[in-house]
Amino acid sequence: MEAFIHEWANLLVRWLHLIVGIAWIGASFYFNWLENNLERQGKTGGIAGDLWAVHGGGFYYLQKFEVAPPKLPETLHWFKWEAYTTWMTGVALLIVVYYYNAQSMLIDSSVADLAPWQAIAIGIGTLIVSWFVYDGLCKSPLAKQPKLLALVGFALLVLLSWGLTEVFSGRGAYIHVGAAIGTCMVANVFRVIIPSQKALVRAMETGQEPDGRLGKNALLRSRHNNYLTLPVLFIMISNHFPSTYAHEWNWAILAALMVISAGVRHYFNIRHLPEKKVWILPVAAIATVALMLVTSPMMKSEAPREGATGAAVAWADVESVIHTRCSSCHAAEPQFPGYASPPAGVVLETREQIEARKADINRVTVQSNYMPIGNLTGMTEEERALLGDWVRFGSQ
Ligand code: HEC
Repeated sequence: MEAFIHEWANLLVRWLHLIVGIAWIGASFYFNWLENNLERQGKTGGIAGDLWAVHGGGFYYLQKFEVAPPKLPETLHWFKWEAYTTWMTGVALLIVVYYYNAQSMLIDSSVADLAPWQAIAIGIGTLIVSWFVYDGLCKSPLAKQPKLLALVGFALLVLLSWGLTEVFSGRGAYIHVGAAIGTCMVANVFRVIIPSQKALVRAMETGQEPDGRLGKNALLRSRHNNYLTLPVLFIMISNHFPSTYAHEWNWAILAALMVISAGVRHYFNIRHLPEKKVWILPVAAIATVALMLVTSPMMKSEAPREGATGAAVAWADVESVIHTRCSSCHAAEPQFPGYASPPAGVVLETREQIEARKADINRVTVQSNYMPIGNLTGMTEEERALLGDWVRFGSQ
């Protein structure tokens, strides 16, 4: 019953996180698009630009002011709850999926033998420390050189990715890099962007000259948020892709994907400007294919696992390994505590089911140590070697 309720909690919180996340990133993409598409020629009277759009059967006309309108309207719309609720539901999801089940989702005893409370403390600590380090950098003299700042920030992110893969399971490490970036993005909205907009409004209401520095600072933070959206979106779906997070170079793969996706974002940011760079998308595509090739199983030495015999094995041995190490979770009715239904829909009970999953079993237990998840059922090297022999030479 507990497992059943847990699955529904996961479903509902995840769904909500997706909805508010779409609202946040959608609004952010929309305003970036507006900014890039304003018609700026020949505008007067404090207007920076305007544009016409048609959507949902109606025509829209928008204007952007150079600084602010002469008089503030009665209703001024703000965009902040999209960001705040994305963070809140994200933290809730982190708790439901990763902290509630820390032993299987966050900890990998072959990486570091942590107790759940230690892993959770490292996770939460990462989010907090990341924000203070990032915020400190943005307030340091480095902020005057945005490109250098971006480079340092990226180097720190790679360091964080590497560090987390040294203590967590691959997927736990990835999600915490994403959660750390997401926390910084939302904190940018909460601590810098919204306060500076409020100060702007206050200055106008009291008839004072707005402080230009505030706007600049907010612009820097929103630039960062802009470039971080695509990397974060990848990390949020990364748990479906063990070829990335369960690879031995998982942190480097993440770094490469961050660079590629931030590059793609850059292409869209400057697409409308005279200095647009048409080569970015093809280069990003080539880089992605190169990354796939370098990390593909083809590139791995075909060396069998230690203890492999290089001959066909008895079916009874294969079946016994699968039944003792996998079937407690991967059954129509899982016996493993915390599982209400077969994970990922994979059932490994009958011979037909096991044979049909041969390629998957090879990928997740022989080519990598992804399964059993967190090695909770204590699978040995010899057993992996035995499955490797079965995959290559068959069974009797
Ligand atoms: C403690 C429970 C548990 C055990 C034991 C376990 N798994 Fe899994 N398995 C999971 C979970 C949870 C997922 C879903 C992971 C995800 O969402 O990516 C999964 C997913 C899978 C998948 C689908 C994911 C993919 O990349 O194709 C395969 C195949 C799989 N397991 C095979 C195995 C094999 C083979 C064993 C035994 C050697 C095993 N599992 C043991 C929990 C378990």
